[in-house]
Amino acid sequence: MQTTLSEAQTEEVRQALLGPCSDELIDFIVRLNLSLPAGELPQAVVETASRLGWASFDAQPQLSPLGWLVADPLREYRMWLDRGRRIHGEGDSALLAPESYAGKSVLEVGSGFGCNLLSLARRTDGKFVGVEPMAIYRQFTPLLAEREGVVAPEVVDGAGEALPFGDRQFDIVLCYSAHQYMDIRKALQEMARVLKPGGQLQVIGGSPDSYVQYVNQYLLTRQPVALLLNRVRTLINTLSYQWLGRRMLVSPSVFATAAPIYPSRATMYRWIASTGLSLRPDLTQRVGGETCFVADKP
Ligand SMILES: C[S@@+](CC[C@H](N)C(=O)[O-])C[C@H]1O[C@@H](n2cnc3c(N)ncnc32)[C@H](O)[C@@H]1O
Repeated sequence: MQTTLSEAQTEEVRQALLGPCSDELIDFIVRLNLSLPAGELPQAVVETASRLGWASFDAQPQLSPLGWLVADPLREYRMWLDRGRRIHGEGDSALLAPESYAGKSVLEVGSGFGCNLLSLARRTDGKFVGVEPMAIYRQFTPLLAEREGVVAPEVVDGAGEALPFGDRQFDIVLCYSAHQYMDIRKALQEMARVLKPGGQLQVIGGSPDSYVQYVNQYLLTRQPVALLLNRVRTLINTLSYQWLGRRMLVSPSVFATAAPIYPSRATMYRWIASTGLSLRPDLTQRVGGETCFVADKP
């Protein structure tokens, strides 16, 4: 299956994202990705989505495998536009306001195409770098930055478990809604390693306080069975990672986000502390529905 865009395809996507029907095109791909009805489509969107190989229109519009891949950065981008081009949760925590990153070297681990980095680059000065293992997401960084009229942030190939940087390079390491996909203990060690002394780790993500509540939420809201099974699989993976150090139920997938886990807050505290960083309970807080864990490097 195709997991990167060729040079010619990248140029075609660039033209489409800068073209007159780009808003409608993005909206259409995101709607299919979220299983929402596509609605009335301008002919130009149908033609562009077909030409790019993102969707087919036989009986009803459907994303192609390539369409599913590109839908991810486009959905992140659409959500970023919808929240006023701000960092997720920046209204909830002064720590996440762009001003607090001014003049700092910041690494975002699991940056996707880099919407948080774009927020920083638009509003403050500093050195902002992302690490992202999905090549196609990285290919969208310059395309979406150009659409925004911003210099593209640097997003490099790599994974949280083996960061492609020397020791003590960054003032802040940020990991937003991404640690759940990683071998978390290894990734936290790596994040601690690349922090400068006096630097700060900020890890933001889901952390259920009770797993019973976690499954109950789905039972009570009568979600489709497939979603409940997904939650149960995530729970089994979370517990097996905590006890055995590995996810037990992982099916092969092109997506790096196929098998998330959500360790409890107490577990995250223990793992962060085991890296030698000093936890900052005074700064750790809820951000949106997630928890922002903060720790300093002595
Ligand atoms: C939900 S997205 C979050 C993107 C971005 N941080 C944000 O806040 O919008 C999670 C990202 O983590 C990346 N990811 C998954 N496994 C990873 C790993 N082992 N190391 C680094 N990034 C990873 C995924 O490819 C994806 O782009």
